[in-house]
Amino acid sequence: MLYQTKIAGIGKYVPENVVTNDDLSKLMDTNDAWIQERTGIKERRHIKKDDGNSTAIMGVKAAKIALERANVSKDDIDLIIFATLSPDYYFPGCGVQVQEMLDIHTCPAIDVRNQCSGFIYGLSVADQFIKTGMYKNVLLIGSENHSGGLDMSTRGRGVSVIFGDGAGAAVLTRSNHIGEGILSTHLHSQGKHALELALEGPSTMHWVPEIIEDQKSGKVKDIPYYPYMNGQFVFKNAVQRFSEVINEGLQHNGLEISDIDMLIPHQANLRISQFIQKKFKLSDDQVYNNIERYGNTTAASIPIALTEAWEEGKIKSGDKVVLAAFGSGFTWGSAIINW
Ligand code: ACO
Repeated sequence: MLYQTKIAGIGKYVPENVVTNDDLSKLMDTNDAWIQERTGIKERRHIKKDDGNSTAIMGVKAAKIALERANVSKDDIDLIIFATLSPDYYFPGCGVQVQEMLDIHTCPAIDVRNQCSGFIYGLSVADQFIKTGMYKNVLLIGSENHSGGLDMSTRGRGVSVIFGDGAGAAVLTRSNHIGEGILSTHLHSQGKHALELALEGPSTMHWVPEIIEDQKSGKVKDIPYYPYMNGQFVFKNAVQRFSEVINEGLQHNGLEISDIDMLIPHQANLRISQFIQKKFKLSDDQVYNNIERYGNTTAASIPIALTEAWEEGKIKSGDKVVLAAFGSGFTWGSAIINW
């Protein structure tokens, strides 16, 4: 028998520390007008060294809210899935840290590394396990601590102004009602463009001793320990892939664009969301954006936006909710949900 997967509870956490565009302009040659015009971002949250947060800890804070809202006990979680590109440790992943912090029994913990598409990839993995009956309750978290790894000098301004920290979580559970919850997920990737949006090191390609040697010998310009993004290339690919994968999901379910009650795009850049909104002729009420307040929080952006849209009463039972993401890899995906 095939079951359905429904989202039983969602939650979010963002650090208290607000960093405005003006704050960034004190660190690098940038300004509020440039950032707002190109990205729509007004402010983002950054972890402070002493505020006790980390990627896993923020994930736990979001997860606790999601568990409470779902009315699911931590003891009933069958699987943890953690999506991030900024884990606390190189290994092990954040999934096992969350397990320990929440005192969850020895269920499996999977770490998903699909960057901006991480939450949708995680949703799809959870859906497969629940649909087949293998697991009943899955805790899915997307969390990022970008701020500690960004180049806050003028050299890094094209990337660093975009990203923010935060976490979102969802508790996914089995439903016996056909047509309820996740209707389908659609995933894609294209490794050809892997290095167009990447953080190459420290890694096995660029070990720390090598980096230290390069620093000593003055080869600093070659050290790839800050994220690189070919912004315009990413933008062009993003708008194309977002459109394709939303259409793929709609067609798969025999839905029209007019059936969409709420589109929650990965908060990559407000200009990308506006491009999609215009292309699909959606009204302001049909697309949720909060990038102006949080920047791009990568794997956390969709669950944070989903949580806020739900908290604001913009998603109601029976609504057709479309999630869509594009990011580093390149990876992209969509999920069609009957809320
Ligand atoms: N402040 C001021 N000036 C800046 C800044 C900044 N923060 N960053 C770059 N500039 C300058 C550049 O140096 C350049 O100056 P020059 O003309 O003298 O050489 C000029 O502004 C234009 O730079 P571009 O990189 O061409 O600016 P563009 O209009 O492409 O905007 C941006 C850059 C916002 C990154 C854009 O390409 C973009 O949004 N790309 C999509 C990528 C995206 O959304 N990534 C999010 C992460 S990936 C994901 O989630 C999908």
